[in-house]
Amino acid sequence: MPKLGSFLVILLVLIMATETMEMVEAITNAGDIQALKQILMAVNVASIKPSSCLGSWNFSMDPCDTRSTSHFTCGIDCSPGNIEEGERRIMGLQLERGAAYEGTLSPHIGDLTALQRVIISGNSFHGLVPASLAQLKELVHLDLSSNLFSGSLPESLGLLQNLNFFSVAYNSLVGQIPKSFNNMMSIVYMYFNNNQLSGNLPELSELKRLQYLDVSNNRLSGSLPARFPPMLELLSLGKNQLSGDLPVGMKSLSFLQVLDLRSNSLTGSLEALIYELSSLQQLNLAHNKFTSLGRTTVSDTSSSSKLISLNVSFNSLQGAIPESVARLSKLTVLALQSNLLTGPIPHNLALKAANLLSGTEQLRQLYLENNYLTGDIPWPFFSLSADTSIAYLGMNCFKSCPPSFFFCQRDTQRSETECHNGLKTSHLI
Ligand SMILES: *[C@@H]1O[C@H](CO)[C@@H](O)[C@H](O)[C@H]1NC(C)=O
Ligand SMILES: *[C@@H]1O[C@H](CO)[C@@H](O)[C@H](O)[C@H]1NC(C)=O
Repeated sequence: MPKLGSFLVILLVLIMATETMEMVEAITNAGDIQALKQILMAVNVASIKPSSCLGSWNFSMDPCDTRSTSHFTCGIDCSPGNIEEGERRIMGLQLERGAAYEGTLSPHIGDLTALQRVIISGNSFHGLVPASLAQLKELVHLDLSSNLFSGSLPESLGLLQNLNFFSVAYNSLVGQIPKSFNNMMSIVYMYFNNNQLSGNLPELSELKRLQYLDVSNNRLSGSLPARFPPMLELLSLGKNQLSGDLPVGMKSLSFLQVLDLRSNSLTGSLEALIYELSSLQQLNLAHNKFTSLGRTTVSDTSSSSKLISLNVSFNSLQGAIPESVARLSKLTVLALQSNLLTGPIPHNLALKAANLLSGTEQLRQLYLENNYLTGDIPWPFFSLSADTSIAYLGMNCFKSCPPSFFFCQRDTQRSETECHNGLKTSHLI
């Protein structure tokens, strides 16, 4: 029965071929398996709980084989099976936040060349950020935040042309932000906050897609770069040691909504920031050395301003509060306490505080204490209610501020001598 014989042989070959194909489909790239083994070995065994993701990585089965178990795949994403290529690649590495893994990040992570996402935030990885991450040409999302990484950032990371999200926030990194980061053409989110990074903030103006840049709580010094990434929506550089005047280039940040420069040593006038950034909603400049709020005349641009909150408390502002501040139509919070401001409260500002200035929002929070303001308290103030407004006028040089009004409480007015001497000092500066 030769016919049946050959039929059986063909059937057998077919079955074997199908099985082989199935086997091939499930096999993970050998180099990727080796790299995963190295990554596991760099983590302190004692910190790996048996129930955690890394606790399930024992390599007795293929990491991407989902037929026999789904257990190993914890912490990794595999590319979909591809019969032609005959192998699967590791595309994502995401370890659980708070799993308390301790150890280093193996430089062999650079061998997982198909990686698109690396998320190992909220653990206790220490040591260097591996320069080999630069080999991951497909990388889109890199989150190393809230670990114990130290040393400086590798220059080579600037090669990551597909990176959209980068965070090393809340680590112990030192040194400068490499200039090469100005080459990350696809980057949208960059978080360097809460490290010990020093030196100048490099110019990142080639990053045409960057919307969020947070370098707050570091040790940046020197003056700000001349140009900024044009699409920025949030710029946070608070709690550093930055000095000098604001660069003219900041005026062109027409998408900027939140600017936080608090707690630095920045100087000069705020005219451009307050009146020329058309999307700005929140501006915190507290604890700096700014000297001027800028223009004194009312202008058209102030009514189209989107500024909601302006905080220039604890600075060196001199001169009178410009009338134009009252024309910032959306402004609801104004903090100017602890400066060297002189002159009377602009009448329009008082009207705005009492919600009597047409075409503008009510100024609900007004902090003017600890200045050298003079004159009478404008009458609209006396209609304010402590239930709906916050206002502080203490420690100034007003003719009289009866403590029966809530905005005069907390601090009394300065003595005549203090006002006289303070005014003299403030004029000399
Ligand atoms: C590897 O892990 C699997 C799934 O947790 C388990 O069934 C198997 O016994 C483990 N093998 C070894 C050698 O530990
Ligand atoms: C102004 O900023 C300082 C420093 O960040 C902060 O302490 C204060 O609460 C802010 N004031 C308002 C009114 O937001």
